[in-house]
Amino acid sequence: MEKIAILGTGYVGLVTGAGLADFGNHVTCVDLDESKIETLRSGKIPFYEFSLGEVVERNVREKRLSFTSDLQKAIKGARTILIAVGTPPGKGGEADLSQVFGAARTIAEQMTSYKLVVQKSTVPVGTGEKVHKLIAEVLKKRGKNTPFDVASNPEFLREGSAVEDFMRPDRVVIGTWSKKAEQILSEIYRPLYLSETPMIKTNVQTAELIKYASNAFLATKISFINEMANICEAVGGNVRTVARGMGLDGRIGPKFLHAGPGYGGSCFPKDTLALADFSKKIGVPSKIVGATIDVNKRQRLKMQEKVESLVGNLKGKEIAVLGLSFKPQTDDVRDSVAIEMIKGMQRKGATIRAFDPIAMETAAKEVRNVEFSEDAYAAAKGADALVIATEWNEFRQLDMNKIKKLLRSPKVVDCRNIYDPEKMRAAGFQYLSVGRAMNEGFSGSSEAKKPARKKKK
Ligand code: UGA
Repeated sequence: MEKIAILGTGYVGLVTGAGLADFGNHVTCVDLDESKIETLRSGKIPFYEFSLGEVVERNVREKRLSFTSDLQKAIKGARTILIAVGTPPGKGGEADLSQVFGAARTIAEQMTSYKLVVQKSTVPVGTGEKVHKLIAEVLKKRGKNTPFDVASNPEFLREGSAVEDFMRPDRVVIGTWSKKAEQILSEIYRPLYLSETPMIKTNVQTAELIKYASNAFLATKISFINEMANICEAVGGNVRTVARGMGLDGRIGPKFLHAGPGYGGSCFPKDTLALADFSKKIGVPSKIVGATIDVNKRQRLKMQEKVESLVGNLKGKEIAVLGLSFKPQTDDVRDSVAIEMIKGMQRKGATIRAFDPIAMETAAKEVRNVEFSEDAYAAAKGADALVIATEWNEFRQLDMNKIKKLLRSPKVVDCRNIYDPEKMRAAGFQYLSVGRAMNEGFSGSSEAKKPARKKKK
């Protein structure tokens, strides 16, 4: 049983804290925001994450998990300290590390015995080294030579399934520069050895890069398939079939090949920008990541263009938007395409009605003058077009006859490809999706028919 303090009770900090406590460790989650600590102490979770409440409650009850804003006490009581503070994007896309360095400085100022300082937040390669230097400098100023180690233990949690991802990860990455640090971290994750989870043990800088490389690669897969979707739209192909045809090749794999409105959320947009920024700064610019970012920006804008191609000028139009979170099973609207689309359509004079099963409260803080509806049907009533922006399960089986009657005109933009284009068209909708038989030059199944040849003059 390791005594652990986690600095930062955001998404990563809280899921990690609850998970490590569930593994039998003694965990104190620290946040300087007292109101957040009060919320947690009263048994509430400040954001929506499936099943997190249960794990927190269980471990609080069994006295393995506690919350405090007393940083000094938490540092004193723990041997391992995880830094899980925010690293928001700075002006130039670089990760803003002020909170990380602030946390490291405080640890160095307060520590009186050996500490293992573990970087959990996503930070550019080289940050571990900087943190090590900073702690050494502060200790030197204090005239102390208290021993310490710095490690990197990146997280690969997906919002919406973070608890499951923590309990059953594909791998655990442990980046250290000393045997002692490696042993402590290996011991913390020992319960996962039972399920034979692969453990990647490496140095700190490699661990830091594994995190960025993983997120950037997944983002690249998405941008790649979105480019293929655009090609499909031009030639009358079907991107879902392209993805399936590619994904069945074991070397490619089927995951993260869903064409859509471009990636969003608090990770891929931020991490791709940060990787592009720091790779440039160290003189090894990642061209592929740069292209991934550009393709994504363009893809996001294309969604609004699809609406315009159906309804014409947006001025005075009423548009219904289904789904506001950046993906289902979360109330997180950070970098959500739905929010960007709403703002874009409002700028062009459209009125927006929206519905999301969970994220309306968080969305209300990001957008103005949006009428939030009580369900999908209420949103659709009288609208000039319906946009499916996020693929919540409950949007997959809508009564489309009812929707058709409710809409002012039967126009649907399905940014997530959850409906069948042919069935939608047969049902009388003007229906656009992403990369599927959009070429109006020929109708019916794009797969069954050959594209029409251009007539000779
Ligand atoms: C992502 C990674 O999947 C996690 O492994 C990582 O730990 C996390 O970032 C992080 O760095 O903290 P997350 O942002 O929660 O997790 O969400 P994803 O499920 O990866 O989706 C990201 C975006 O890509 C969403 O906008 C989603 O709609 C989009 N996406 C995903 C696609 O457009 N197509 C796909 O095939 C898959």
